[in-house]
Amino acid sequence: MSLDSPQIEPSVDGLGILSDAHARADETFELAARHLDRSLVDVLRILGFDEDYRSAQGSHLYDAGGSPHLDFHTGEGFASLGHNNPDVRDALRAVLDSDLIDGVQIHYSPLAGMLAEELCQRLPEGLEAVFFASTGAEAVDSAMKFARAATRRPRFISCESSFHGVTFGPLSMVGDEFFKEGFGPLLPGCARVPFGDLDALERELRARDVAAFIVEPIQGRTVALPPEGYLRAAQELCRRHKTMFIIDEIQTGLGRTGCWFALEREGLEPDFVLVGKALSGGYMPVAAMVTTREIYQRAVGTLERCYVHQSTYGRNRLSMAAGLAALRVIERDRLVEHCADVGELLRAGIEQLRERHEMIREVRGAGLMIGIELQPPRSMVARLSTQAIRMASEGLFPQLVVIPLHRDHGIITMAAGKNDVIKLLPPLTLSETEAARFLDALDAVLTDCESGARKNWAVVREIATSTIRRRQPPAR
Ligand SMILES: Cc1ncc(COP(=O)(O)O)c(C=O)c1O
Repeated sequence: MSLDSPQIEPSVDGLGILSDAHARADETFELAARHLDRSLVDVLRILGFDEDYRSAQGSHLYDAGGSPHLDFHTGEGFASLGHNNPDVRDALRAVLDSDLIDGVQIHYSPLAGMLAEELCQRLPEGLEAVFFASTGAEAVDSAMKFARAATRRPRFISCESSFHGVTFGPLSMVGDEFFKEGFGPLLPGCARVPFGDLDALERELRARDVAAFIVEPIQGRTVALPPEGYLRAAQELCRRHKTMFIIDEIQTGLGRTGCWFALEREGLEPDFVLVGKALSGGYMPVAAMVTTREIYQRAVGTLERCYVHQSTYGRNRLSMAAGLAALRVIERDRLVEHCADVGELLRAGIEQLRERHEMIREVRGAGLMIGIELQPPRSMVARLSTQAIRMASEGLFPQLVVIPLHRDHGIITMAAGKNDVIKLLPPLTLSETEAARFLDALDAVLTDCESGARKNWAVVREIATSTIRRRQPPAR
């Protein structure tokens, strides 16, 4: 496959929006620093990710000079069909050109029912009632509300190191305190148990005041798989104590782990499944809460209450059409099977590198959701540097590999969280050649790091120093 920048027809619109954006591309970060998230701009600059990306197609982003950057991040998995998938785009264009009705709350379009039907067909029997939202956090919030209404119980249990979104409801259940600092008080009655610990879960459930237990089938923050049988046993505990069992598949769903949904790995039959991110093939904000008809009706099943849980853009035509297109592309192109095969190849390749590279501590994951846990090389100098880097910021150490993968090899990856894990979420369409290119690059970067290459260590040490400096209040 040629890696040349694809020839893109310059689009125009009557209001001059795209031509303005093109003309002002050089101001992108300045505008963001002025009006958007300034600290994120700083972080991107420090890490060298402040590239002038101009277009994206398939597995690649292209910068202003036309150079390709292989994307193993895909916006934490949202562009799972590759960037700008042409079939999803066709569906969106056709919908836009059709003058369909939208945004009228008294109207149902067949698109929403069709997407709900196609989602439910791929989920365990009995999950047949869908609420569409715009973000994953909103889907999580919806499940929390519906679980409360269905059980009339106040509390929620989640897992340590879990992630479920950053609005107040989901944030109250997120495992890492770091996300919560300064935002409290959060929802009362939320508690966390260690991921994989059934005794701790049962202790919480025994009081019979827990509305729901929410869990990711593979934790995204650490790419941690649960012990075998854990999720099934957790489901049984929930049944026994009449607690709702919520599986958050917002990151793992829709083929990512080599099956349509990761819950298939243990044959789960939860009360709720949450889907998001990849659902629109990387185009539209859309997420879904899927539950049973009985639970849905218990929450909002009377005529007077039919509108108490709504979302203005929830089932808008573009999101619904994009969702349908994404599901059909995954099915038609056999992307679930492809993801399982290429994922296997990639994991086996990283395992082989582990035999040669002391910096790889562990490789884990399923399909194309892969975590590489790093550890410092054994040399005294490397261990001292690592200590200093970790003291400056947890989660900085993986940048030792993430930065040179990008800078020297044009490959975009990410640190998974406040830990030593690099997370890989390439598109499900990843080719074997692209997987091989990643393995070669990782091999080269690890060789550099393990031989103490200044170009890698010095950069991260400098980031550590400036992180610490920035934490100190400015002198008066
Ligand atoms: C497992 C999980 N749940 C919920 C969310 C929140 O989704 P959103 O960012 O769309 O609100 C995320 C986002 O990363 C996620 O990974």
